[in-house]
Amino acid sequence: MEAPPETCTLIGPFAQVVTMANLPLTGPITDDQLEILEHAGVLVQADKIVRVGPYAQLAREAESHSYQLHPIDQPLVLLPGLIDAHTHLCFAGSRSNDYALRVAGKTYLEIARQGGGILDTVRKTRAASPEELVQTLTQRCSRHLAEGVTTCEVKSGYGLTVPDELKMLEAISQVNQQHPLDLVPTCLAAHTRPREFAENTAYLRHVVQEHLPQVKEKALAYRVDIFIEDTAFSEEEALWFLQEAKAQGFQITVHADQFSTGGSKVAAQVEALSADHLEASTPQELLLLKEAGVVATVLPGASLGLGIAFAPARKMLDQGLCVAIATDWNPGSAPMGDLLVQASLLGAAQKLTIAETFAGVTTRAAHALRLEDRGSLEAGMLADMIAFPTSNYQEIPYFQGKLKPTMVWKNGKLV
Ligand code: NIG
Ligand code: FE
Repeated sequence: MEAPPETCTLIGPFAQVVTMANLPLTGPITDDQLEILEHAGVLVQADKIVRVGPYAQLAREAESHSYQLHPIDQPLVLLPGLIDAHTHLCFAGSRSNDYALRVAGKTYLEIARQGGGILDTVRKTRAASPEELVQTLTQRCSRHLAEGVTTCEVKSGYGLTVPDELKMLEAISQVNQQHPLDLVPTCLAAHTRPREFAENTAYLRHVVQEHLPQVKEKALAYRVDIFIEDTAFSEEEALWFLQEAKAQGFQITVHADQFSTGGSKVAAQVEALSADHLEASTPQELLLLKEAGVVATVLPGASLGLGIAFAPARKMLDQGLCVAIATDWNPGSAPMGDLLVQASLLGAAQKLTIAETFAGVTTRAAHALRLEDRGSLEAGMLADMIAFPTSNYQEIPYFQGKLKPTMVWKNGKLV
């Protein structure tokens, strides 16, 4: 278990290390439950954390074992790398015209019904070359990494034909191999019905019979998502579809209760890993999610983008849910894509403790994706770490995302 000494690096001292260790996965968390180590160091071997502890003690050990040293000579607060558990980061083009229409009074669903919205990005993404998708996705991944995100879920869903969906998932796979950011791909062929199909059931049958087997065979994604809403798919359609996807061995996540309820009931019925959005959820929906052990992933960036109320994150925590916070970064409803800004604004509006906000973008986001090797700074976890130029962790949400990490480590490497 103990690392061979010559391959270890001691990084520190940090003014504070907020480990996010030993916190509950569900329900409220108070800030005094946070483990905050002052004047602490982190011992890293290859891509993993070997130990986190008092710097003086680790430095003595480092000296006697001739560990490498990475001295930190300014006050920094260290946190686990952030995890963005819901994005549509792979797309072509802009939807600034949708934005102009919305601020002039049209709603997101009205724009969608008139053939804009998601279908507009579908047209642009189908027309884009694989190289263009790889290049723009790479740029967005680099921005995310610089802002402290070290793991990021990415959905397809702007292709909606087998070749175009595969083109997206292959672009995601290529960037995942080339870029330090870890990407978690999800098949969202059931984002909305493409024009080539006259009815939803025929399209979903086609996705089950043609898309999913190829996605599986090519190992391009092991998760499946669907958008349950008036303009997309009904509860009944989604229930059938998700049961079929589950039978093919896919993990399930759902776009639920964004504008109207119904989606979280389906998420609970199929025991989805997470139900995401939930702006329209009432205590009844939250109870269903709680009882089925479904993570509630809230997407403040979509509320900010659309100018609608945040999901009831405080109520969710008080009802005992596991609440993750993600950006939903997409060209339509959530173009900003800054996780720390959005989590901080949600925290201020919904009265989340700093511990709850941090957990939402670290441990609880890791749980939403069922990634057990990240989210906290502890022995055996991946050395995904971000350092902020302050000596007090409270300043991170206090500055509402304007305090950016100055150092980011992914898999033990400074990037
Ligand atoms: O999560 N609501 C559905 N899907 C995305 C938006 C996609 C788009 O508008 O392009 C979302 O908000
Ligand atoms: Fe989304």
